[in-house]
Amino acid sequence: MQDLVIRRPDDWHLHLRDGDMLKGVIADTSRHFARAIIMPNLVPPVVTAADAEAYRERIVAAIPAGDRFEPLMTLYLTAGTNPDDVEAGHKSGLVKAVKLYPAGATTNSHSGVRNIDEAMPVLERMAKIGLPLCVHGEVTASDVDIFDREAVFIETVLDPLRKRLPELKVTMEHVTTKDGVDYIKASKANLAGSITTHHLIINRNAILVGGIKPHYYCLPVAKRENHRLALRAAATSGDARFFLGTDSAPHVDPLKECACGCAGIYTSINTMSCLAHVFEEEAALDKLEAFASLNGPAWYGLPANDETITLRKQADAVSYPAKIDTGAGPVTVFDPMFPLHWAVV
Ligand code: DOR
Ligand code: ZN
Repeated sequence: MQDLVIRRPDDWHLHLRDGDMLKGVIADTSRHFARAIIMPNLVPPVVTAADAEAYRERIVAAIPAGDRFEPLMTLYLTAGTNPDDVEAGHKSGLVKAVKLYPAGATTNSHSGVRNIDEAMPVLERMAKIGLPLCVHGEVTASDVDIFDREAVFIETVLDPLRKRLPELKVTMEHVTTKDGVDYIKASKANLAGSITTHHLIINRNAILVGGIKPHYYCLPVAKRENHRLALRAAATSGDARFFLGTDSAPHVDPLKECACGCAGIYTSINTMSCLAHVFEEEAALDKLEAFASLNGPAWYGLPANDETITLRKQADAVSYPAKIDTGAGPVTVFDPMFPLHWAVV
């Protein structure tokens, strides 16, 4: 038996959804995590500060009694977003970031930004007030190969934007490529990246070898092995610019197991066990706390959590359910394809 005590972690990229799904999944996060950045891609999206406050209240109402969990709210950037509303939401302490979805990039992104120029007044205001922009870093042009969409986004959208507005703090969400890791490492300031649990574990073979596996399909899609290894090196390096954002994204099974399945992998329930396994494999258990509990709050200007959690390595494998039942239907849990021996006790 081996114990590892770390500050209580936070999840810097989480999809909680709404209604019955929200009620069905929130306990899997609030059990282990103190805070999470909540993604705004609901239908309709969370666009105004008033939308975010109403959504925050629905989330708080769904937290199981006894759990201490703070949702950190984001706004969904649209062509119509009002800079004054964003600033007021930020000043009140409610809004912690604004999310840029290129239109069409992923689940419920059709109201997203088509041309970055249309969002410049909001982005300039955010740079001025120090409010971070979280980006889904993929181009959507149909002639760009899906495996190249992150690298092309960096070159054609992100880098020009950062040159235009160097003061803007940008979180590159769910980095999936060596290109993304290298770009973040080369930046001098105002750029950080979140990394998901699953992108540290799977490469694209998980989706395509031996039959098509919808429960390993997410966006950005998992890439080649060399990219997974670059993500592992970044996450386990202790570099303060990289932190955990699970992108845990529940969809009910019928919407994944069909001819046009939704993107999203559900990892909230077993993320900490998976991460301890990965960090141990990389001989970097001493860096897990930085990745999961310290680097994220430092980037968002918040204190690290005072409480701790204990991870215990046990001889018997920890069993997680293959699916969870939500009021909205069954959701398949991420299967890392190896036994998990680290439990949160
Ligand atoms: O796989 C994903 N699922 N990637 C995203 O960017 C969105 C998310 C979702 O909301 O389902
Ligand atoms: Zn996401």
